[in-house]
Amino acid sequence: MDFTPPQKECDLCPRLCAYRKKNREKYPHYHNGPVTPFGDLSAEILIVGLAPGLNGANQTNRPFTNDYAGDVLYPILKKYGFAQGEYEKRKDDGYKLLNVRITNAVRCVPPENKPTTEEEKTCRQFLIKEIAAMSNLKIILCLGTISHKNVLQALGLKQSYAKFKHGELYALPARQQLTLIDSYHTSRYNINTGVLTYEMFEEIIKKIKGLINQ
Ligand code: URA
Repeated sequence: MDFTPPQKECDLCPRLCAYRKKNREKYPHYHNGPVTPFGDLSAEILIVGLAPGLNGANQTNRPFTNDYAGDVLYPILKKYGFAQGEYEKRKDDGYKLLNVRITNAVRCVPPENKPTTEEEKTCRQFLIKEIAAMSNLKIILCLGTISHKNVLQALGLKQSYAKFKHGELYALPARQQLTLIDSYHTSRYNINTGVLTYEMFEEIIKKIKGLINQ
């Protein structure tokens, strides 16, 4: 079970369905459906992004794959031993995650990369099931504020429990020995504006490595 809506045909969000229909006409060779999470459910680390990019994960059906944000994320994961193989921006590139799973708060591409609060709420059921199914889970890395907000909600926690702060660690009372760590999203915008640098993101992955003792 992949904790995605029924492949390609989820109809829970009218606006996202209408956008998918348009994209199917414009880009018939793209995946154009809910994106399947990447990595094993047995992993100790879950990375939660925002939503698939139009020409990235929405095309390739692998989170962050062929997205600028993946160009930042994937090589750094490999550098710290959380992946093997070469990341070549394709689902069949042979790149393999080690002890990490990657998913999104919203599984279908939203117009302008912005899901509505209602769409986040509707899609949250899949994140809830996914987190519950990860029996070895120790760390959830939230990329950006929308991921952070949705992870807290998925765990039944109030937003006041943990404010989004880059580099901050929060023990999660919802489950024993579960830690949330925040990072600015690895988006092109954040990198270009200097909100997040490669070095800052490496520090986050190093911190996780220290916590996991891998
Ligand atoms: N691609 C994804 O799959 N998720 C993001 O958050 C950004 C790009």
